[in-house]
This record gives sequence, C-alpha cells and structure tokens, in this order.
Amino acid sequence: KPVVLSGMQPTGGMTIGNYVGAINQWVKLQEEYDSYFMLADLHAITVRQDPELLRARVLDGVALYTACGINPEKAALFVQSQVPEHAQLGWVLNCYAQMGELNRMTQFKDKSATHANNINVGLFAYPALQAADILLYQADKVPVGEDQKQHLELTRDIANRFNNVYGDIFTLPEPYIPEFGARVMSLQDPLKKMSKSDENPNGFIMMLDEPKKIEKKLKKAVTDSDEQARIYFDRSEKPGVSNLLTLLSVATKRSIEELVPEYEDKMYGHLKKDTAAAVVSMIEPIQARFKEIREDQTLLNDIMKMGAEKASARAEKTLKAVYDAVGFIPRP
Ligand code: TYM
Repeated sequence: KPVVLSGMQPTGGMTIGNYVGAINQWVKLQEEYDSYFMLADLHAITVRQDPELLRARVLDGVALYTACGINPEKAALFVQSQVPEHAQLGWVLNCYAQMGELNRMTQFKDKSATHANNINVGLFAYPALQAADILLYQADKVPVGEDQKQHLELTRDIANRFNNVYGDIFTLPEPYIPEFGARVMSLQDPLKKMSKSDENPNGFIMMLDEPKKIEKKLKKAVTDSDEQARIYFDRSEKPGVSNLLTLLSVATKRSIEELVPEYEDKMYGHLKKDTAAAVVSMIEPIQARFKEIREDQTLLNDIMKMGAEKASARAEKTLKAVYDAVGFIPRP
C-alpha cells in the first residue's frame, strides 16, 4: 500500500483552514493509503510553550483528529515526541541541510519576524525535522495546504542529496494539495491566509468556536466591493466571495461549479447566511464527538499507544537503514 504522512502543530487549536486544507483530505486518504497522522509537538516548542497548556493542547489534538474522522484503527494517529525516531533522524538530516536553503524558508522568515526575541536554532532547523517526519515513513504523498509546499520541496532536496551519497534510502514524497481549499483566506482580509495567529479573531474560525460565534464571524466576512455585486468564483477578482464559496462547497460536499449557478442572482447576504448555516452543521457534530472523546482519558491513551506503536514499527526500519548507511555501529 502506498503511504501518506502528515501533521499539524498542536498549538493554538485548529482553524477551519487546517480542517479544509489538511484534515479533511486525510480522512479521505486513510481509506486507500497506509496512513500516519501526527501531532507535531517537537515542532511546537520552537516557540515558547507553557508545559501544562502544551499537554492539554496535544490531548485536544488527539481528540479533534478523531472527532474529525481520523480512524485510529485504520491510520496511525500519534504524538511526534512519543516516537523518538523523529528526533533521531532529525539530527542526522540537520547534517544534510544547508544553512542557505533553510534561510530561504518563508515560514522561518515569518516566524522570526513575529518571535524576534526568540529566534532559536530549532526554529531555523524546523524544516529538517519536518523532512525527518516524512522520510521516516517512506511517505509517497504528503497532504498539506499550499503554505507547506516549500517545506516539501526542501524535503525532496534533502532526500535526493542523501540518496545520491548512500543509495536509495529514502522515497521521494509528493505533496498532495487539494484543488479547492488549499489556502483558506482570512474572513477579514481575503488576500491573507487564514491563521490562528491573526490579531483580529474575526479573521478566523476555530473548529471549537461556539456555533453562534461562527455565524457572527461569517456574517461579518468581508466581501468584494467591486462594481458588480455578483457572485462567481474567481480568486483574484473575487477573493472574498470565492473564499466563502470554498467553505460552502466543503461544508455541503457540493462542487463549486454546482453551487455557483444557484447563487448567480442572489445577494452576498444570502451566500453568507447559507455558508454560516452549512459550516455550523458541518462543525456541530465534530464538536459533540470531540467533547465525548476529550473526556475519556483511557480512550485517548489507547489511541496514542496504538498510534505510537504502529508509527515506531515503520520508523525504526528507516532509522536503522540510515544509521547503517552513515556508519554508526548498532549498540552491541
Ligand atoms: P500547521 O500546523 O501550520 O498547519 C497544519 C496544516 O494545515 C494547513 N493550513 C491551511 N490550509 C488551508 N488554508 C489555510 N488557511 C491553512 N492554514 C494551515 C497547512 O498547510 C498544514 O497542512 N510544519 C507543519 C506541520 C508539520 C508537518 C510535518 C506537515 C510538521 N511535520 C510533516 C506535513 C508533514 C505546520 O506548521 O502545519
């Protein structure tokens, strides 16, 4: 079976952008692929975290992945720090990543601007650890949103460089980016990516936002102020409307082509109202499942245990091959 791997940082909760761009794809892929989905807590500490809060957020993540439809019996749903091979391969790959290429990463540039008082080495080396996450599983596909494309190109470069020296150790992974929803935009500024670190909370929807709040945010969404208040899909001419259409399409599981003719003669207000209703009915059952799972610590432990065991079983093979290739002696 071909393999997919993906992950998310557990900090700050999950936006509807994370859901549409990533998790929603994972849920579909787990049916056909040998799947590995992780909570990237090693990556999370590149920014200061409160330990109690980090623990809570990781458990939230395990519950939310499951509530969104990741089936822990099918996919390996695991916590990155519980599979030590990530840190181990991460170190090796640090030695095969160049300062110059890491310096060009836009996520690093953005984060060094927003966290100027803590530009630590981990933040810089972040993409090498991400490469390790992917290459450990010999992943064929990596389902992510648009913003992760650059990290995936780097992963391929590092894998290629390594393979050129030591032979075919790593599978070269392909990014898997959805046609619609790979870049959910801010509701307040549809030219900017939706992000939980936006200082205006009306710009993003969290998967655990109260339904009333979701409705309010969508009703306040900025639409396009061109001369004709017509509804059609065009990301550059109509970024706000196209963003709403994308959310409506995902939430109703209907294609954009099918939806557009129904809204052609309607007003922006209709689109916002219908999008709000559809998003709420998509999210409400997820929230209900989340609550149940989050309160069941035994279930959460079982999921993490099962996931880490499955993940380790595959990861340790790759790590062994890598250690052997570079010339490490196995512990006698
Ligand atoms: P993170 O935690 O920032 O985001 C998780 C996933 O959500 C996608 N995403 C979006 N998609 C559409 N519209 C948006 N507005 C939006 N915002 C975020 C991201 O593209 C991503 O797929 N470095 C990664 C985490 C990671 C990882 C990995 C991913 C660590 N190791 C290995 C893949 C493979 C990150 O910070 O994602």
